[in-house]
Amino acid sequence: MNNSNTNLLNTIDNCQLFTGLDPALIQRAKKLAKIEKFEPNITIIREGETGDKLFFIAQGKVEVSQKLYFQIARNIRILKQGECFGELALLEPHNIRTATVRTANEPVICLTLNRSSFNSLVKIDAYFALRLGKMICERDYESLQRLKDDFGNAYKSTIAALGAIAEYKDPETGNHLNRVSTFTRELSLLLKGQQGFESIDEQFIELITLSSPLHDIGKVGIPDQILLKPGKLTTTEWEVMKQHTIFGAEAIKKILKNSCYPEFLGIGHNIALYHQEYWDGTGYPEGLRGDAIPIEARIMAVADVYDALRSVRPYKKPITHEKSKEIIINKRGSHFDPRIVDAFVQLESSFESIFNRSVLPI
Ligand SMILES: [Fe+2]
Ligand SMILES: [Fe+2]
Repeated sequence: MNNSNTNLLNTIDNCQLFTGLDPALIQRAKKLAKIEKFEPNITIIREGETGDKLFFIAQGKVEVSQKLYFQIARNIRILKQGECFGELALLEPHNIRTATVRTANEPVICLTLNRSSFNSLVKIDAYFALRLGKMICERDYESLQRLKDDFGNAYKSTIAALGAIAEYKDPETGNHLNRVSTFTRELSLLLKGQQGFESIDEQFIELITLSSPLHDIGKVGIPDQILLKPGKLTTTEWEVMKQHTIFGAEAIKKILKNSCYPEFLGIGHNIALYHQEYWDGTGYPEGLRGDAIPIEARIMAVADVYDALRSVRPYKKPITHEKSKEIIINKRGSHFDPRIVDAFVQLESSFESIFNRSVLPI
């Protein structure tokens, strides 16, 4: 064997799968390994195909991709010298490759072990099998984290898209949805731990922040001549307008009925249905009173009204922060839960700067 091949085989000493293991096992692995060279930009193994070889990278690096959703492959990791791939197919009865591995724009040299060589090493040293198991677990954990992130992002995007549909019909509201989401978060964080708000925990805060942009999703069911009417609504028109709470709650129920997060369905639904209820029972659609109105809807009401007061709407000009604050305080105990108004007053400068930051001066 020439020198360069010996050097390549010696890279096994630094391979993550072998470091610290019995030297006799490492020697045996070197004897059994074959050297294989791969040109730049080629596929070494392909997901879904069969194969029975384990690869150690002796030189260069490879890109690993996997079809996680929609049959679309995405890069999941880059492996460098000393790392290995192809191990799962050796442990799986049908030898199916679970990922595609390609060279990048440089050649790659691998040391390979076929199934029988691999099995003989596992038989010699249980630590080798343990090391392999640990590596597979670490990679699985990493993949699971990636899937969790993907799933969370997909959920957030869906909610943002749904909220944006309602906003599209009422474009003058500008950044309303983002702001109310921030306002509900701020209020919830402050109310957490206070008497009467024991149900607010980290999960609640996460869910109300996510769900609040859906509060007016039901407006998609309101005819434009009512929704965008510049003047005051007639009594009949107003009755139609009130229906947006019910339409919204129904839409959320339908969209999320198969959701694996029933808590999200609960909070989103309550916000859509009850954000127009008044603390004194004179709101709609059910005329709920006081604590009978879900906390998330009571918080939403303050956040929504503050932002609506400050914003331009088809039927009104924007109002200053001071004037909006005064209106909200005057409705303490009638429209709004008094404790939530108190929280708002404590947070007023933060509300003002959040609003001003996201709206250009008029
Ligand atoms: Fe509304
Ligand atoms: Fe709103």
